[in-house]
Amino acid sequence: MVKSAAAVLLLVVAVAAVAVEGHKKELSVGYYKDSCPGVENVVKYHVAKALKANRKDGAALVRLIFHDCFVRGCDASVLLDPTPENPHTEKTAPINIGLAAFELIDEIKAAVEKRCPGTVSCADIIIYAARDASSILSNGHVHFDVSAGRLDGVVSRAADAQRDLPDSTFTISELIRNFRRKNFTIEELVILSGAHAVGVGHCSSLRARLTAPPEQILPPYRNLLASKCAAGPDPIVPNNVRDEDPAAVAASFPSFLPKLRKLEFLDNTYYHNNLARIVTFNSDWQLLTEKEARGHVREYAENGTLWDEDFSDSLVKLSKLPLPPRAKGEIRTSCRRVNKY
Ligand code: HEM
Ligand SMILES: *[C@@H]1O[C@H](CO)[C@@H](O)[C@H](O)[C@H]1NC(C)=O
Ligand SMILES: *[C@@H]1O[C@H](CO)[C@@H](O)[C@H](O)[C@H]1NC(C)=O
Repeated sequence: MVKSAAAVLLLVVAVAAVAVEGHKKELSVGYYKDSCPGVENVVKYHVAKALKANRKDGAALVRLIFHDCFVRGCDASVLLDPTPENPHTEKTAPINIGLAAFELIDEIKAAVEKRCPGTVSCADIIIYAARDASSILSNGHVHFDVSAGRLDGVVSRAADAQRDLPDSTFTISELIRNFRRKNFTIEELVILSGAHAVGVGHCSSLRARLTAPPEQILPPYRNLLASKCAAGPDPIVPNNVRDEDPAAVAASFPSFLPKLRKLEFLDNTYYHNNLARIVTFNSDWQLLTEKEARGHVREYAENGTLWDEDFSDSLVKLSKLPLPPRAKGEIRTSCRRVNKY
């Protein structure tokens, strides 16, 4: 009797240990099919609704998956708000400037909690939402199945984000080293950088580009950025010149007017822009300065279908970056706070 009670206790302890060791969990497609049927449709409904009202939320979600997964793995550590006990969470880091869509994640989480309380992690919601956003922004060309079963982390430090995320001023060797640290290749660096086909950046993230020489940035585009960046303390500009406003392009870069598009779109135009030296960040241009990376820029400029497929695969790989060994995990009730016991 005593023996079997001890065995049960041991079993309980073992199960509890597995539950909190986030990195040991196996991810699987359809992970919530019994515990929260339809959860993926709930997420998709809210992402589609949000993007219909404001397409900018799409780019924000595509950036969020990167900024979550590259720092302590995909554990929603990026969503934690600062508190008096932990005032410097990841989202307060300068490298996370402009990070957005936190309210949309809250809205999704609230809907999911109502349906199945305490079941679906914020970490999984980020991946589902980024998947749906990239699918909508690409008209379904970027698509993939999401393996789920992640746990939410309880640690979030601005210093970790500063250390692990690449800066827009990085050289090609710094970019390669940064990606290699997470087991990503030069090819994957080039593939994932193509996300800059959508969204915006602050002028403070591209300041050095305003005085870069013509080999690095096409002068009429540099003039366009300079005029926009003179308009306030730290304005934002589209990452993709094709999303620029026609009046500004007419004034500084009229030859580009025919290439402007009406709707932000996740496609391989980033690579065309890059070869023409009309990209925003130094880190984008740097991809042309190394032989292998430059070869991949050309490859993806030539074949948009190939990029759609490889980008999908790279997002899947990104979504599998694990929590650090022995890190504690939980299913948060609010994506902005760790649970209280
Ligand atoms: C290769 C290294 C990278 C660097 C140096 C970099 C840097 C930046 C910077 C500086 C911004 C603008 C932030 C601001 O000023 O507000 C930005 C925006 C963005 N980045 Fe990256 N990034 C990189 C890779 C990636 C990757 C891998 C993804 C996703 C797969 C990504 C997705 C985005 C998106 C979608 C935006 C626009 C966000 C929005 O409009 O809300 N970036 N990036
Ligand atoms: C990268 O791969 C090595 C060797 O397989 C592994 O030990 C390490 O944990 C991986 N790093 C990340 C961030 O996944
Ligand atoms: C582009 O890539 C797709 C997908 O890998 C491939 O099937 C197709 O043959 C490629 N097209 C060209 C012109 O190389």
